[in-house]
Amino acid sequence: MNSIIKFFLLLLACNLANNVSAKLQVANPVCEYRTNPVGIDVKSPRLSWKMVSDQQNVLQEAYEIRVAQSPTDLASQKRLHWTSGKVNSAQSVNVEYDGPVLKSMERLWWQVRIWDNKGKVSSWSEPAYWETGILSTDEWKASWITMKEEVSEKSLPAQYYRNEFNCSKKVESARVYVTSLGLYQLFINGEKVGDQLFTPGYTSYKKRVQYQAYDVTSMLQKDNAIGAMVGDGWYRGYIGWDGDKAYYGDKLALLVQLQVTYADGTSELIVSDKNWKASYGAILESDIYNGEKYDARKEMSGWANTGFDAGSWDEVAILNHPKDILVASNGLPVKAIEEITPIEIITTPKGELVLDLGQNMVGYVRMKVNGKSGDKVKLQFAEVLDKDGNFYTTNLRTADATNIYTLKGEGEEVYEPYFTFHGFRYVKLEGYPGEVTKDKITGIVIHSDMKPTGTFTCSDSLINQLQSNIQWGQRDNFLDIPTDCPQRDERVGWTGDTQVFSMTAAFNFGVAPFYTKWLRDLAADQRPNGQVPNVIPDMWNNKLGGCAGWADAALIVPWTVYRAYGDKRILEEQYESMKGWVEYVKEHAGDDYLWNEKRHQWGDWLSFHSDNSGYPGAYTETDFIATAYYYYSTSLLAKVARILGNEADATKYEGLAPKIREAFIKEFVTENGRLVSHTQTAYAMAISFDLIPEHLRENAINYFVDDVKKFGHLTTGFLGTPLLCSTLSAIGRDDLAFMLLNRKEFPGWLYPVTMGATTIWERWDTMKPDGSIIEGMNSFNHYSYGAIGEWLYTYVAGLSIDVENPGYKHILFHPHPGGGLTNAKVEFESMYGVVKSAWETQGDKFIYEVTIPANSTGTVTLPNAAGKQVLLNSDILSNEIKQGISESGSNLAIKLGSGNYLFEY
Ligand code: BGC
Repeated sequence: MNSIIKFFLLLLACNLANNVSAKLQVANPVCEYRTNPVGIDVKSPRLSWKMVSDQQNVLQEAYEIRVAQSPTDLASQKRLHWTSGKVNSAQSVNVEYDGPVLKSMERLWWQVRIWDNKGKVSSWSEPAYWETGILSTDEWKASWITMKEEVSEKSLPAQYYRNEFNCSKKVESARVYVTSLGLYQLFINGEKVGDQLFTPGYTSYKKRVQYQAYDVTSMLQKDNAIGAMVGDGWYRGYIGWDGDKAYYGDKLALLVQLQVTYADGTSELIVSDKNWKASYGAILESDIYNGEKYDARKEMSGWANTGFDAGSWDEVAILNHPKDILVASNGLPVKAIEEITPIEIITTPKGELVLDLGQNMVGYVRMKVNGKSGDKVKLQFAEVLDKDGNFYTTNLRTADATNIYTLKGEGEEVYEPYFTFHGFRYVKLEGYPGEVTKDKITGIVIHSDMKPTGTFTCSDSLINQLQSNIQWGQRDNFLDIPTDCPQRDERVGWTGDTQVFSMTAAFNFGVAPFYTKWLRDLAADQRPNGQVPNVIPDMWNNKLGGCAGWADAALIVPWTVYRAYGDKRILEEQYESMKGWVEYVKEHAGDDYLWNEKRHQWGDWLSFHSDNSGYPGAYTETDFIATAYYYYSTSLLAKVARILGNEADATKYEGLAPKIREAFIKEFVTENGRLVSHTQTAYAMAISFDLIPEHLRENAINYFVDDVKKFGHLTTGFLGTPLLCSTLSAIGRDDLAFMLLNRKEFPGWLYPVTMGATTIWERWDTMKPDGSIIEGMNSFNHYSYGAIGEWLYTYVAGLSIDVENPGYKHILFHPHPGGGLTNAKVEFESMYGVVKSAWETQGDKFIYEVTIPANSTGTVTLPNAAGKQVLLNSDILSNEIKQGISESGSNLAIKLGSGNYLFEY
């Protein structure tokens, strides 16, 4: 054999050996972001998977999906429902099912295999499934049932409903589809169905009511009882700060449809109808703001079991309520996620018995108690103690947040409320019989079941606490809808708050389904003229609706979901809503392209205001902000139209945007590059939205920088804050961004941390240094200022999204060390797998670790590396790597494929 042939044979052998040992697998198959979802109504569900490989530079070259009615059918490949065939594509995120039209209540199993760019093919993934819910209105055979009761101004008891049925044959499978007007908990044979809370969730109830689907096969017997409790919730309870109640309706109702399939192939429907019975029970009153009053003596033992004597229960009435508003739940269910034990039991100076949970949390208390029948325990909830150390509830305003439990007196009783939640760190107890110990009162943390995706840590413990506060702020305020706060008589979906926080949110937790659901409500509540209400769901009747920076959530939140998850469908789904809002502003801005009409605007809400600084405070004119957002949203809309291939709209809005920009510059930017609103918010906004002409940029930057230096602290409110540090970093002033971050006095992010905060405050000075608390609107758990999290992840730790290849298909790594930190690290679970960006300084040495998941690529920017000897994985850079390097200023940028990299220089 000649040597060349020998060489190639050897190479081939090595390659084969490599390929044999190399690992290529498919992991974490999800459908619509969820593992094995049941009861979805998506027409073409999207499938995603992760590629697992032990090789570097791996990309998916092709995939094949197959779908069948059972895992056996999948394995045998006979009777396949659909197969994609081998598709040459790198797409592994949100691949659309493209098979036969889906039927209602159908479970389909799927699996996928992939080919990589090294000639390897994976084995088929473990079978996973999705299951459809009820897809058309006429398949709803159940009736809305309601209890006959007097309409009342006050809160009424929760309602109990029940019925019995039997299954005459062997049950093969059973699904129950259920919803309510009000909140429900469903029981079969005495057991709670599923572990979801606050069902059916909060939507724009007049237009959309979600139902849930549960697999209850294993809960059925021959003789069965089915029952539900229904409480006021958002539907009929108090909602809003105007003392309004029953915004959505004054009648609670229940809708249940249970489909039983027998082993012999026949099936039966059990539905809510006039044969059900209703009664009041132990829940005397249950309200989200005011809490729950529960009398255990009134418990009806066995009410959800067979054999219960329902003789005293009432007939139900059929409620004529539409069913075409029913939609499946595609979001993230609310669940009990964590249990917290108190860190201290306190007697306050006033003599109150208070338990400190050590964390401002959201949920309720699980109480264990022993006592006599009729003993009453009163539980109250507060976020803080006042400056004297007493229990403080003034900031809850009219929300009573009080649970009263009356004991039945039968040994240890365990009580958790059903239909209320509180935002609290402290629990005040009155009337607790005997001595309370820390194991008797625990905090049950509830929120939408978002998967934690991001962690940020660094060498400064105060900043780490800030990050913890941001994440807690998110847990506490992502309870089915993104709320402004979780404790007072508000807790509603303020659009501005979530707009500014959405990218931070998408780093911390997996939020795509959560926002997808909420955005549907936004579109549903949007007015025909495109106006977007301030709060979604709109429980305020569009009062003061359509404010700049708030209503723009209609564009910015879908854009966030697109960037963070590569989710193009959200852009398609929300397109008309986005366009509607821009058109609304266009109409109101008129021919001069300035949105300056006399109307209400929230402006840079809660910005720093100083009375005696000899400076007009940090007030940024609202028409400045409104026109800036008009431009920003129009530009976004143009981009979205391009992405969706809507050329006509793209051209239209690409044409409109420069006109707004020109008008803005003429009106708000002087010839010297000074802004008429001379504030940090104005500069951060104009610079980051690209509203400064190139030739004035340097001047504007200087004004901005001077202002930051002059104050030595931030002066921004809700809209300016998320832009402040990132704009400073983008203009090369990390030093100032860190100066703002590191400040420990008011106003700044670390001031609350030094005051012991465990969540983000609504105001920069919610609590004064002497412990006094501003009265009125003042929450200790508003996530808006937590929008700084985005800067921590992207700039400090160095992980950002490439908008051209969204969803971390191509990742940008660029740490900005500074501020006295000696390390910072982000780990992020992307749709492709774990991404890591972690740096550390050791004397003069900079060590930087990067992980790029399989089927993804990255560009790594090494700060201040130009001209230095750079080691990669302890070796000098290979020629191959060197060829891909480009220099920009003092930085080096390197393009890399998947793998783990350790740079040192
Ligand atoms: C809410 C804020 C909201 C604001 C409107 C407040 O009552 O709590 O979060 O954005 O009103 O500007």
